[in-house]
Amino acid sequence: MLRRTVLAAFSALVLAAPAVHAQNAGEINLYSARHYDTDRQLYDAFTQETGIRVRVIEGQADQLIERIRNEGANSPADVFLTVDAARLARAAQAGILAPYQSQTVDGRVPAALRDPQGLWFAFSQRARLIMYDREKGRPEGLNRYEDLADPRFRGMICTRSGAHPYNTSLAASVLMADGAEKTEAWARGVVANLARPPQGGDRDQFRAIPSGQCSLAIANSYYLGQFGRSDKPEDQALFRRIGVIFPNQGEGDRGTHVNISGGGLVRTAPNRANAIRFLEFMTTPKAQEAFALGNMEYPVVEDAPLHPALAAMGKFRAEPVNAAGNLDRTPEALQILQRAGWN
Ligand SMILES: [Fe+2]
Repeated sequence: MLRRTVLAAFSALVLAAPAVHAQNAGEINLYSARHYDTDRQLYDAFTQETGIRVRVIEGQADQLIERIRNEGANSPADVFLTVDAARLARAAQAGILAPYQSQTVDGRVPAALRDPQGLWFAFSQRARLIMYDREKGRPEGLNRYEDLADPRFRGMICTRSGAHPYNTSLAASVLMADGAEKTEAWARGVVANLARPPQGGDRDQFRAIPSGQCSLAIANSYYLGQFGRSDKPEDQALFRRIGVIFPNQGEGDRGTHVNISGGGLVRTAPNRANAIRFLEFMTTPKAQEAFALGNMEYPVVEDAPLHPALAAMGKFRAEPVNAAGNLDRTPEALQILQRAGWN
């Protein structure tokens, strides 16, 4: 039922695009660190609407940045696309992106989700959540990431390695808010509260809640959302069983930590006008819906529809994305996590 809503909307997007038979509308080359089939369908929709062919070169973000640098003025790259704010900041620092004027992008994407220099913007976002067992009820005194270090949660928390960018990015955000000393005490407190040594991916953390192995899990929103979208009864049962806490929502608090997928115009883009057209296309409600919900992420534009499973998880206020700050503090955050034994 939920699934059908999205598929219907997605088909409408693909089918409703007018067939364009322009022979010389040209092409664009996307250098993308994302690997989702739904992204490809979206690029096809762009081609149908504009006649512009889309070629995708996939790779890891840092390798793509290096490749664009090495190719220099001869690079075919028009648009760089990746996940993780710190990696977008790294691309900006590496000098491979260029600013451009677009009232469409500026008007549709909130300023908090755009680079202050206009070098990139977010296409979608995901929140880092605390999850619990609804059958046991929402734990008292657990409203902030900082609360995870409280001794009352001894032996309850499951999380993946601190070396994974999702946790390092979260720790960098705590570090920017609380400073080094408090962050180290926090990391030691979380490690003292672990139910088991860090292992597996985000899904493995909340999947271990029903058996009682883990009482609390730290995981990204879209992983749970994917269970909410699934047609399988057992996935639906797990989705209903897991409760979510959007941390740091109190008045004056900084908001829930989010990370983003985003992209920008490559400085040496040979197909600059087409590339800007593509970036603007990504802000349309239909593209937003298809791109974000392909992976069950949150769209960034206000009028893009939200999947019912995501809506059911609740509304929240996000911490403003500070990509450059996060990139800056990531090495220190990683050191702190490692000293604390969050391996
Ligand atoms: Fe992921």
